[in-house]
Amino acid sequence: MTGQTEIPRRAVLTGMAVASAAVAVGATGARAQTQAPASSGKVAVVTGSSRGIGAATARRLARDGYAVTVNCEKNRDLAAGVVREIEAAGGRAIWVQADVSDPGAVRRLFEENERAFGGVDVVVSNAGIMRLAPFSEMSDADFSRMVDVNQKGSFFVLREAARRVRDGGRIIALSSSITQLRSPAYGPYAATKAAQELFANVLAKELAGRMISVNAMAPGVVNTTLFTDGKTQEQIAGFAARTPHKRLGEPSDIADAIAALCSGDGAWINGQTVFANGGIV
Ligand SMILES: NC(=O)c1ccc[n+]([C@@H]2O[C@H](COP(=O)([O-])OP(=O)(O)OC[C@H]3O[C@@H](n4cnc5c(N)ncnc54)[C@H](OP(=O)(O)O)[C@@H]3O)[C@@H](O)[C@H]2O)c1
Repeated sequence: MTGQTEIPRRAVLTGMAVASAAVAVGATGARAQTQAPASSGKVAVVTGSSRGIGAATARRLARDGYAVTVNCEKNRDLAAGVVREIEAAGGRAIWVQADVSDPGAVRRLFEENERAFGGVDVVVSNAGIMRLAPFSEMSDADFSRMVDVNQKGSFFVLREAARRVRDGGRIIALSSSITQLRSPAYGPYAATKAAQELFANVLAKELAGRMISVNAMAPGVVNTTLFTDGKTQEQIAGFAARTPHKRLGEPSDIADAIAALCSGDGAWINGQTVFANGGIV
């Protein structure tokens, strides 16, 4: 395994996980044999899967039998932890550190995935950041970084997906229900998310004839640091109160919706934006 030394910010590192015996520690501390997920023979790459929605998606797809490539920008320990969890449940995973705003790093992410698992069937372009400010206060640096990561970065990921995903596969880009809510301070972030909906719709047409379905997934308010950072408890409770279900979404809610699109039942949903938001919009 590589990835033990300090590296330049944009370098790519890989942590290789070997499929291991399925042994879990139960609540009593007794070691219990668990059922390994039946391998589907399929492979998923999930960007930004060291934590939040991406981590939940990586875990869920691994449970569904996918070999998974986990990706982070900085939090290598978290990415390695997601891989360890997947292995402990009997699945297969590797982690690759790659900044999606760097097209060379994105290419190497897919090359490492192919070296480990031989190809790719599902790509979830999930890595993203959010910087909020009214137009009058938004800094050049925050605006540029959102465009670099969310818009350019997702384009680099979707470009590799368009070149590599096998026939019958799935490509999913993370948008946001903010494209409908359009709240003050969210303008530049919402614009980078709206791009995902256009990317998905056009790419679905470009891949015609190969039974690859491409969609944008638009969560509402989800309980991750991307949403909660910088907000007071009252503000968070206010958002929860606005959803008919009276709670925030959890990362697993979105992972379940993504898994549904990836399943055989999701094949006919193509070129769409799927709003998984508990009804907030
Ligand atoms: N949370 C919400 O309410 C919500 C709502 C709608 C849409 N979304 C969208 O859902 C996606 C995931 O959001 P989240 O809430 O799960 O975010 P999160 O908890 O902040 O996690 C972000 C993930 O993206 C990774 N990442 C950030 N910049 C990256 C880069 N340049 N290259 C590679 N990876 C990078 C992070 O890696 P490190 O750990 O290394 O930093 C982390 O794994 C985003 O696209 C977001 O716009 C979220």
